[in-house]
Amino acid sequence: MVYLNGNFIAKNQCRISVMDRGFLFGDGIYEVVSVYQGKIFSLNEHLQRLQKSLDSVKIANPHTQKQWLEICNKLLSYAPKGDYSIYFQITRGVGAERKHDFETLTPTVYLQLSKLVLKGKKLLSQGFSAITQEDIRWHRCDIKSTSLLANTLYAQNAKENQVEEVILQRNNIITEGATSNVFILKNNILQTHPTDNNILAGITRDLTLKSADACSLEINESTFNRDDLMSADEVWISSSTREIMPINKIDSQAINNGKIGKYWNCVYDHYQQLKND
Ligand code: PDD
Repeated sequence: MVYLNGNFIAKNQCRISVMDRGFLFGDGIYEVVSVYQGKIFSLNEHLQRLQKSLDSVKIANPHTQKQWLEICNKLLSYAPKGDYSIYFQITRGVGAERKHDFETLTPTVYLQLSKLVLKGKKLLSQGFSAITQEDIRWHRCDIKSTSLLANTLYAQNAKENQVEEVILQRNNIITEGATSNVFILKNNILQTHPTDNNILAGITRDLTLKSADACSLEINESTFNRDDLMSADEVWISSSTREIMPINKIDSQAINNGKIGKYWNCVYDHYQQLKND
């Protein structure tokens, strides 16, 4: 079951016009929210970011917070209890003709559930690989836009290189991962790119910083470069669907001799507690 414009219907019954600007231009925004055993995680934070994305692209929010919650709960009621991610997509809507500029249209609203298969701590503790690449995306990465061509190419590259993530750099600054935020830890200081137009302000990024604080780490939201990344004691990536993952090999080179640091352990455990709060 999925949600499309007020209806809960089977996915294969969904029909969207070819004149939808989401289809023609990638003119829309999205969110991805985790659900743990029926409990929607950090929904308010995701809805706040959704509002910011909508404001940035001049689409009116079609629903109140309460309505969004009702839609999510009803969608979840059709699925067996378990872990899911909810994908929200709002496009500008269906135009009369294909033209780049727009007038006010009725937004197209689509929500679907996907099973969330989390890697357990044991598997995560083995560490994951990444590669670095030039960040070729536009300069409004703070908007969670459905225009994701660069990100899909990175994801394909990650798959072809059999790595977990592509870590991006722009003007010798590490920005974020293709679908995650990036953290480095050195001498008990946790560093991550500040929230600006070069990265998506990840909800998990925020919670990782909260958890790091609880683990007595000093936090430094400032830019760092590839040398800092390669010489870090620990490297992590974070996202709603991957939580907090340790990266111990980048561009085929081991990070800190491939060891998984003790701080990842602490921060990961704290994050798991947040899910139960
Ligand atoms: N992506 N940066 C980028 C470019 C992302 O695409 C994501 C998440 C993040 C992490 O954001 P959050 O912690 O709020 O999930 C950072 C989602 C999961 C996706 O595109 O499916």
